[in-house]
Amino acid sequence: MGHADWAHDLAKELLETTLPRRWAHTQGVAEQAASLTPILGGEADTLIAAALLHDIGYAPDLVDTGMHQLDGARYLRDVVGADDRLCRLVAYHSCADNEARQRDLLAVLTAEFRQEQPDLAQALTYCDMTTDPDGRHLDVEDRLAEIHSRYGRDHVVSRSISAATPCIVSSVRAVEAALSDVRQGGAG
Ligand SMILES: [Fe+2]
Repeated sequence: MGHADWAHDLAKELLETTLPRRWAHTQGVAEQAASLTPILGGEADTLIAAALLHDIGYAPDLVDTGMHQLDGARYLRDVVGADDRLCRLVAYHSCADNEARQRDLLAVLTAEFRQEQPDLAQALTYCDMTTDPDGRHLDVEDRLAEIHSRYGRDHVVSRSISAATPCIVSSVRAVEAALSDVRQGGAG
């Protein structure tokens, strides 16, 4: 069984009943990950697995620090013994170092997890930041506006997203450019 099948079963168990909307979002993020297979090749299975697992830190039983990226990555590392790369991708997804700084957890995060290679980290950020809470796909600018309106300007998540916006937008645009290059190459 590949990482993606295992991750699907784990994420479904943790999210489907307690957080159905989060599970819908997760499935949409995984669809985006699958759509990146042309630019990821053999890494696609790892990215799809990370997409399925990226928000498990919201599951009520997993909440500890309240930073869902860190709580999810710790669960993957300590409870289920997941592959290191999956732990790292979840820990830093969607430029989470910005949220860690806002929550005074950056030293903890960097001490426990290393960053994953930039192309995969950017790919996961693309998938999450082009998928709305119901799993529908949208432009990154609309996604950022949606997060701000859902949390309200003063929430730590909104402040984190503001700080992370350059990283998020550049990640999304880099992946879009890579996809466009592949499509043009395929058409030629
Ligand atoms: Fe997330």
